[in-house]
Amino acid sequence: MRTANSILVSLLAALFAAGCRRPQSTLYPNGPAADKIAGLEWFMVILFCAITVVMWILIVWPLRRNRGSFDEHAPIDIGGGQGWVAFGGFVFPVIVLTIVFVLGLTAMSHFPVHAGGSMALAPDIRVTAHRWWWEVTYLAGDYPQHFKTANEIHIPVGRPVNIQLESADVIHSFWVPSLHGKVDAVPKWTNYIRIEADHPGTYRGTCAEFCGAQHAHMGITVVADPPDQYEAWLDGQRKVAALPQGEDAKRGAELFQSGPCANCHMIRGTLAGGTVAPDLTHLASRQTIAAHSFPNNTAYLAAWVTHAQSLKPQSQMPDITQFNGQQLRDLVTYLQQLK
Ligand code: CUA
Repeated sequence: MRTANSILVSLLAALFAAGCRRPQSTLYPNGPAADKIAGLEWFMVILFCAITVVMWILIVWPLRRNRGSFDEHAPIDIGGGQGWVAFGGFVFPVIVLTIVFVLGLTAMSHFPVHAGGSMALAPDIRVTAHRWWWEVTYLAGDYPQHFKTANEIHIPVGRPVNIQLESADVIHSFWVPSLHGKVDAVPKWTNYIRIEADHPGTYRGTCAEFCGAQHAHMGITVVADPPDQYEAWLDGQRKVAALPQGEDAKRGAELFQSGPCANCHMIRGTLAGGTVAPDLTHLASRQTIAAHSFPNNTAYLAAWVTHAQSLKPQSQMPDITQFNGQQLRDLVTYLQQLK
């Protein structure tokens, strides 16, 4: 009995703990846009639950009466009850759906996504969707201060951030449920989205438009930092890559720049100038790799270099099999110094 109780308590504790983390849910809004959407969502859930309850009462009530014979209930007057059918089957649904439709349009009008007025004049960040990762370009300040990162956006708490949303290939959809609704990233088209976080935290998002084999592994994270922490992060990211420390990291840096890595990836401040894959200048500062697919640690970095096609089939990252064990360790040591 005692064991059963302790299992129950642990299960409940785990459930609550899982609920507290709320990494990706429209039901736990954390910004003005998500608040509006959650308000509409709750209104609809409560309204539709109330209608469902009334419907079930109308179904169960006549069954429970259970009175009279079939003869007594034979339809003697075909015209009877038509008013009820017209009201319940047509007038009432039209009224309810019209209310929901108008409220939906009103909520949408708060979030213009194309030709976004002030947002188009001063976007803070450009997010370009790729199969299957997110390129993030910070546009604050003059051009030399712009920099690129991938799959992890930092924003200052309590300040609206304008995002210019584009796609390099097919249609994707940018969705961080705790901060905003879904907005599509469309090739040869620019949409805008304004996000703002009320509290510091890490908000998980994903691609919400099917875009091919690895659509499900196209995650994105928005980290909302207190303003001073955000400024420090910004300063750190603007810097070119740290010089490799130690003989193994130096060999790793050499391998990176002379091998196939540099054809696709950029590490600012080095000879690696590829632009078709994520910028790795500050790779070690990110929590995950491959668009939120794996933790950013030694084992996964090594596995990603050598077996990307097993870990994320059809992604643009090929299996790099030319390095021996020592070379692979040197390379990963270097990558982990890119703070
Ligand atoms: Cu990108 Cu689904």
